[in-house]
Amino acid sequence: MKYRLSVLSFTFLAILSTTFAASRPEVKDAVRIVRFQVDYPHAQVDRISDYTKWTSLMRKSVLASLRFINKHWNICAAMEEGKPEKKDSVDCGKLQVTGEIVRDNFYRINATFIAERDPIRNTNVDATSTVFGVVQIGLRGGIFQYTNALKVLGKPSSSLAFEEAFFCYPGYSLSASSEKCLLDASDSSRRRVRRATKTTKKHKSAV
Ligand SMILES: *[C@@H]1O[C@H](CO)[C@@H](O)[C@H](O)[C@H]1NC(C)=O
Repeated sequence: MKYRLSVLSFTFLAILSTTFAASRPEVKDAVRIVRFQVDYPHAQVDRISDYTKWTSLMRKSVLASLRFINKHWNICAAMEEGKPEKKDSVDCGKLQVTGEIVRDNFYRINATFIAERDPIRNTNVDATSTVFGVVQIGLRGGIFQYTNALKVLGKPSSSLAFEEAFFCYPGYSLSASSEKCLLDASDSSRRRVRRATKTTKKHKSAV
């Protein structure tokens, strides 16, 4: 399951390389990317073409749902190396949403975002849960049953498909445990050389 997200890796490696910053510790946490799917088995799929901005409507709605969950449970991760984001204006870990008609009257939404690691924390009380757990509860609680244009999707099915994968910034490789990123050998030897030079200089000036 963990390594199946080949399409994801393209998209997110692009994002990761644009936000890459100069400081390079030897070990970093890997970026956790999750994708979940919500199925709508009673959708009026023939009406989707009535909406010219369907994809953007879908993204806005899913974003609103995830932000709602995120008010109670910290699920959306800020980009580690990007600008710190204001809590209220988070894009929920660069949320991306796609949809497809699976068959007649069956529509599926895929949502992909950079998530916090489990256990995630409640924002008000001292409690923990998992990203899967709180999204599943949200789904069963009706959080993905939309109003306005998206109501043509109807009632979603209550089972949630969920996948996750871990990625590293360029210059790092995923460790065997798959949740840590290790600085690539060539980079770490360069760092060692630089550090050695600094030590020598310090020593000289002390003398
Ligand atoms: C949704 O996700 C599934 C499995 O991860 C994938 O097979 C499918 O192509 C995706 N659909 C879209 C429209 O992204």
